[in-house]
Amino acid sequence: MTYSDLIARGQSASSASLPDLVSDPVRHQRLTITAQGLHFDFSRALLSEADFDALLTHAQEIGLEQARADLFSGKPINATEGRAVLHMALRQPGRDFFAKGEAISTAVRTGRAAATAFAHGVRDGSICATDGRPFKAIVHIGIGGSDLGPRLVHEALAPSAGSDIILRFAANIEPGELAAALAGLDPRETLILCVSKTFTTLETLENLKAARAWLQAAIGPDDSAHLVAISAAPERTKAAGFRPDRVFDFKEWVGGRFSLWSAVGLSCKIALGPDVIARMHAGAAAMDHLFETLPLAQNPVVIAGLIGWWNRTCLDFKSRAVIPYAKRLRLLPQFLQQLEMESNGKSVNLAGQRVSTSGPVVWGAEGTNAQHAFFQHLHQSPDVTPVEFIAIATDNEDAPARTRMTLANALAQAEALTHGKTRADVEATMRAAGADDASIAAIAPHRVFSGNRPSSFVLMDRLSPENFGAYLAFCEHRTFVEGKLWGVNSFDQWGVELGKVIASEIDADLQKGPSSHRDRASVALIEAIRSLRS
Ligand code: F6P
Repeated sequence: MTYSDLIARGQSASSASLPDLVSDPVRHQRLTITAQGLHFDFSRALLSEADFDALLTHAQEIGLEQARADLFSGKPINATEGRAVLHMALRQPGRDFFAKGEAISTAVRTGRAAATAFAHGVRDGSICATDGRPFKAIVHIGIGGSDLGPRLVHEALAPSAGSDIILRFAANIEPGELAAALAGLDPRETLILCVSKTFTTLETLENLKAARAWLQAAIGPDDSAHLVAISAAPERTKAAGFRPDRVFDFKEWVGGRFSLWSAVGLSCKIALGPDVIARMHAGAAAMDHLFETLPLAQNPVVIAGLIGWWNRTCLDFKSRAVIPYAKRLRLLPQFLQQLEMESNGKSVNLAGQRVSTSGPVVWGAEGTNAQHAFFQHLHQSPDVTPVEFIAIATDNEDAPARTRMTLANALAQAEALTHGKTRADVEATMRAAGADDASIAAIAPHRVFSGNRPSSFVLMDRLSPENFGAYLAFCEHRTFVEGKLWGVNSFDQWGVELGKVIASEIDADLQKGPSSHRDRASVALIEAIRSLRS
């Protein structure tokens, strides 16, 4: 199955009838899977069964099964950094994993036990503030992978876990973010968790500095009892003055955007309780097992990855919208944006050769709000955007009617994208409403929906920690599968470095005036900012 065969298949699939494809019961059965409290429906993908078979063959031919085995066996598949990729080890403490041949599971178990003991200590008050008060609030400082995962987990699971401990997050260096996180908190009963894999990230270190000034103004210079560091660079946390018993490390084989399973998730462990987090890990471990063991054709992760690749590369759809129909999953689009775009937004393959396509733009917002914002574009723009719907079957059971209507809306949008509304239907509707020929001729084209727009649907039984963990692991592994199909390294992120270097130069320019090598546009803006701020 050559690449050009698949591109040719994509071209003919573009003109296939999605309503016809969706109505086929055999195809429907092949493209729907229920596992770990999640019902995956991929049947609204714009591909025939023959296309699906071709994709499966392609996956086999490019060695997806071997790549999957290499991932789990701890080979250094992050080749540009010479690292294994083993975040799965963090949620499977009972299994022995090896990173580049070295056993890691004893260290995983020890680290996990230390974080759990610390979380219990904060929750029961035995780990307390300088003056002996229990901690009532945690401020989690970190950015990117050191922020988005815990933030999402907290928002998703806090309502059902119930928690007496306030947890706030500060990522952005823009001062409003930390100010909002600290607002109304009493420094004497606040624990600051500083999370940074490298412990060099400007935003995080500056926010830490500001948070420590806030603490010290209230409790005096010794703020060590109020500080925790989580990092893969413990020597830097030591240099920054953190107490050794307040430093939790994680290893280089945990990528930032996959790190919520490590001590990076400590703030959630404290706020939601270790049991909730253990249940989330168990759900993720179950999804790991499915991904690792199921044959490609029955593997939800593989099917999702193949369809993601097909949409971007064979059908040339440049973005994917993620629409969770649940307030508690509001942050999912942002989380997936980092997970997928930092992983697969690459210009070269593992051999350093240019790729013609890599991961799509991932974006989205919660439904039903999004329906009243950008769904117009999803339904009628000439640019087709595949949509991923996520909904929860049983949720908010104190308000069953509105929950049911939420679900009805999610299903309705998927159906509308598939079938659209033809000119004949529009004319019939208008005529039935009494419109005359002239207004039908003028207005009908605006009311036509082309349909034939693909989507996928993930229905969770309920938003339990287990189901949520399974879904997150599904997303992580899908990113890996797609990366393999594009041939890129999904585990580095060199593309974020250039801007960081220039930002530090420009910060100096803002203080002393533009350097001679700045371009005209930057010079003008630097001068404008200097003059406005002087
Ligand atoms: O700038 C991108 C990035 O390196 C992400 O990959 C990472 O998750 C984030 O910054 C934060 O990095 P750190 O955890 O080292 O502070």
